[in-house]
Amino acid sequence: MDSANIKNTGLRGITIATTKISDVNGALGKLIYRGYLVKDLAENTTFEEVIYLLLYERLPGIDELEEFTKKINSESDLHDGIIQAMKIMPKDSLPMDVLQACISLLSNYEEDVTSKSRDIVTEMAIRLISKTSSIVATWQRIRNDEEPIKADPKLNHASNFLYMVSGKYPSKEVSHFFDTCLVLHAEHSFNASTFSAREVASTRAHIYSAVSAAVGSLSGELHGGANQRVMEMLQKIDSVENVDNYIENELAKGRKVMGLGHAVYQVDDPRALILAPMSKRMGELAGETKWYEMSQLLEKNAKEVFKKKKNMDIYVNVDFYSASLYHSMGIPVDLFTPIFAVSRVSGWVAHVLEEQFAEAAPKPVLYRPESEYIGDYCGPAECFLEDLEER
Ligand SMILES: CC(C)(COP(=O)(O)OP(=O)(O)OC[C@H]1O[C@@H](n2cnc3c(N)ncnc32)[C@H](O)[C@@H]1OP(=O)(O)O)[C@@H](O)C(=O)NCCC(=O)NCCS
Repeated sequence: MDSANIKNTGLRGITIATTKISDVNGALGKLIYRGYLVKDLAENTTFEEVIYLLLYERLPGIDELEEFTKKINSESDLHDGIIQAMKIMPKDSLPMDVLQACISLLSNYEEDVTSKSRDIVTEMAIRLISKTSSIVATWQRIRNDEEPIKADPKLNHASNFLYMVSGKYPSKEVSHFFDTCLVLHAEHSFNASTFSAREVASTRAHIYSAVSAAVGSLSGELHGGANQRVMEMLQKIDSVENVDNYIENELAKGRKVMGLGHAVYQVDDPRALILAPMSKRMGELAGETKWYEMSQLLEKNAKEVFKKKKNMDIYVNVDFYSASLYHSMGIPVDLFTPIFAVSRVSGWVAHVLEEQFAEAAPKPVLYRPESEYIGDYCGPAECFLEDLEER
């Protein structure tokens, strides 16, 4: 078999299912959650409203939102067994690995984890959203030999995460920025981690299995792990003066620069356009604007270098400015990707529900793509193929 002509597509550009949850228009740079532009949602809604929208296919009314916010809050406590498990894990465990392990453990505390009832699975979905935040914050406390902090019922999901991590109440502005980050990261169609969740859900495995698979997928540096790598790059460069020929040198070494490029967007990522000014403002609030300034210069240089060296346009993605933004909020670098999960879990569970309970045709089917075998045949290939034809 001549493998030279076979291209690994990574399923790019291949439509494999229908969805009513979101649409990413790569040519126009538009992202829609259930019919609403993400820009409008970021400017006018809270993360709780977006979760409701993703799960129930419409925005909540005022009373529904109040009740739903309380519901999310009421599910935030972790079982003692989960906290004990975290306490015996090595302190240097990767936070994404701890999150993935704890999500699997959570399934053991469900009374009817394999239920085929949409209502019961929706209840589990809400618990998963609530507890993902608690797990990430609790691990941050435990690995630093600090007592875990329970969520404050008076706070929303965004403020509670920051409070549970640090024990300090965030300012209104910081809380609002973090809430907007959660809105922006909530959903993005069939990205790698969502596809993982849907693929697992298509086997009719339960929602905790699907979400734990998605966490594993998100951890990779070509996906959610990129935000941590962007910050590590900024820390390595360390000053605006040092930005210099950084991009050119990395490309010359054949390396990828994190936070640049996207598998779908061929224009500006609409989320990055919102995150950039937030990163600037957050830098000002923190009294250190160099991370934003370095990011801005790197973006400018990248555009020029990619044009010159590769004759292509390059744009920053969602992970680029979120790195400097989270850093200015005082969030540890290795929590950046878990924070992505704190938000994206809302999209994952909506997709699991759609995968398993879609009412209208076309209904989802078990995912089972083909691959092209380019390995050896232990015996004459013709015999093997003839044998197959006979069967
Ligand atoms: C996201 C990503 C995987 C998309 O990859 P993709 O769809 O394969 O992108 P393309 O193949 O269209 O890229 C076209 C060219 O640009 C290059 N390119 C794309 N992103 C690049 C990056 N961040 N750094 C260096 N080169 C990059 C590719 O290597 C390719 O060059 P080639 O034709 O010489 O091989 C890729 O842009 C990337 O690895 N980015 C960095 C990781 C990241 O930020 N991930 C978060 C995504 S939200």
